[in-house]
Amino acid sequence: MNLNRKFPYTRLRRTRSKSGLRSMVAEVNLSVDDLIQPIFIKENLSGTEDIESMPEIKRFGLDVLNEEIEELVSLGIKSVAVFPVIEESKKDAAGLEALNENNFLTKAIKQIKESFPDLIVIVDVALDPYTTHGHDGVLDDNDDVDNDASLLTLKEQALVLAKAGADVIAPSDMMDGRIKLIREALEDNNFKNTVILSYAAKYSSKFYGPFKDAVESAKFFGNKTKDTYQMAIGNIDEALQEVAMDIEEGADIVMVKPGLPFLDVLKAVKDEFKMPTFVYQVSGEYSMLKAAIEKGWLSKEVMKESLISFKRAGADCILTYSAKEIAREL
Ligand code: PBG
Repeated sequence: MNLNRKFPYTRLRRTRSKSGLRSMVAEVNLSVDDLIQPIFIKENLSGTEDIESMPEIKRFGLDVLNEEIEELVSLGIKSVAVFPVIEESKKDAAGLEALNENNFLTKAIKQIKESFPDLIVIVDVALDPYTTHGHDGVLDDNDDVDNDASLLTLKEQALVLAKAGADVIAPSDMMDGRIKLIREALEDNNFKNTVILSYAAKYSSKFYGPFKDAVESAKFFGNKTKDTYQMAIGNIDEALQEVAMDIEEGADIVMVKPGLPFLDVLKAVKDEFKMPTFVYQVSGEYSMLKAAIEKGWLSKEVMKESLISFKRAGADCILTYSAKEIAREL
């Protein structure tokens, strides 16, 4: 940094003085290519349902899903992350419905890819939509999530999703060793171009609250925590270890989640590894901004401001519930 710049030879306000100049010196720009829209879909639903804790976000039945995606595509959005709400009667302790090749999510993937072959479809690998206890893996005798037993199911789940046509498999379960196992399974089964987007640094955050409402898992999960597998919020060195391991095991893209409370982690990950790095602006981040906007306490530009902060910190792409709304503005 040149520390010899002195007033009035330097006036930093000069390049701020006109709108055109401000755009020309902008260091970071948000584009529709940076936005991934998460979508909630619900088995046996026809039409849509509102989600109380997530203003303007809906659950979609497969009968109206294509209309919504049509709109996203027309706005230039290139990718969606699909989250299923499955029939309660199909949940069990082992999450076996995840391995059913004709489950609700595989049907949805096939439907989307048939109508929108160029749209990049991202799906989570984790058992929480399918388990009666709501954890991301299977439990051991002490009701803790059993890492190695969970891996076997997660690997099969990943294959089922790849086979259904998912472009990007996103393990969000935080088991140790899962990326390696999934990568090997994909290679062995000839899914050589299936991308692994690893939720590499995923924190045990209370900002996921509204998501549990959206996927109707709150009543299954109760007030338990995911502290034995998701990361402790105060740790950043450990986040770098998580990311390093996932890259070595075969992740193509790494992600930090949540976003705004973990911008330092996002920046550290991007600076350290120079990998494609995504960030998830999670449900709670979205809803708190929306709530304040609805109350008139904040203006609606705060949403874009938070997305730009992700770009500035090094994100290549952002999962955000506001993707559609922001794409409309851009
Ligand atoms: C499930 C999953 C969660 C989110 C994405 N995938 C919840 C959790 O891990 O408890 C949260 C997303 C959000 O809050 O927007 N493994």
